Amino acid sequence: MHDAVPSLYGNVSGRRLTMRDLAQATQRGEKWSMITAYDAMTAAIFDEAGVPALLVGDSAAMVVYGHDSTLPVTVDELVPLVKAVVRGSHRSVVVADLPFGSYQVSAAQAMETASAFMKDGGAHAIKLEGGSSVLRQVELLASAGVPVIGHLGLTPQSVNLIGGYRVQGRGEQGQILLQDAKSLQAAGAAAIVLEAVPAELAAKVTDMLSIPTIGIGAGAATDAQVLVWQDMLGLTAGPVPRFVRQYADLRTIMSDAVHAWTQDVASGAFPAGDQSYA
Ligand code: KIV
Repeated sequence: MHDAVPSLYGNVSGRRLTMRDLAQATQRGEKWSMITAYDAMTAAIFDEAGVPALLVGDSAAMVVYGHDSTLPVTVDELVPLVKAVVRGSHRSVVVADLPFGSYQVSAAQAMETASAFMKDGGAHAIKLEGGSSVLRQVELLASAGVPVIGHLGLTPQSVNLIGGYRVQGRGEQGQILLQDAKSLQAAGAAAIVLEAVPAELAAKVTDMLSIPTIGIGAGAATDAQVLVWQDMLGLTAGPVPRFVRQYADLRTIMSDAVHAWTQDVASGAFPAGDQSYA
């Protein structure tokens, strides 16, 4: 067990954190982290490491299901992952990402999807992408008691419209993003993810809002930070975005270990007496 954000956990003695605890930490000026998780075992590791929020991202489309964008993943594919992350964790808030096509049609559709993630999956909060186009969704969900995290800037579900995974919010776009952030807060959002936006713009949004901002490629001024764990721990093949800092090289560690085992099997060195029953 590692030290967690001290007062975050000190204030809640033993129970699972809530989005309200995270908002209060932000009010006290404490920065906090969120990391993606897609299964029980890694959820347990991240929970024990003291990460206060676990995001079952629609990035599962890519890192779990092998697609080349987040678009194809479905609610039915994500709910089991949410269940596993909830089972594997005890203290962290578990946030379920609503996948493409599961909330844009109407507020009622968003409510149905959120309730699948919360009733069936056991999620404690949900996240959805977009600004002015999802305000009715955010209002209905918040009024129904669902903590909603917005997502502005680079919204990967719109990759076909944006034309790639690139920085958003430069120039005049920045004003639209500021307005969207204000509107999301007014609609009842509990926090907002800011992805791949200039650090200065993210700082302005953070100053302007009372709810937490959670940055990913948005500089140091946001109230919290989120990363995809496979990027941060070096499991992802090939280059990772500039905003990722790699804290480990798991791909090399795992590959070397499995290669060594394969060679031991081939040479007869595995199993030895220690791995055999008398
Ligand atoms: O799906 C995801 O992992 C995300 C994070 C990148 C914020 O939305």
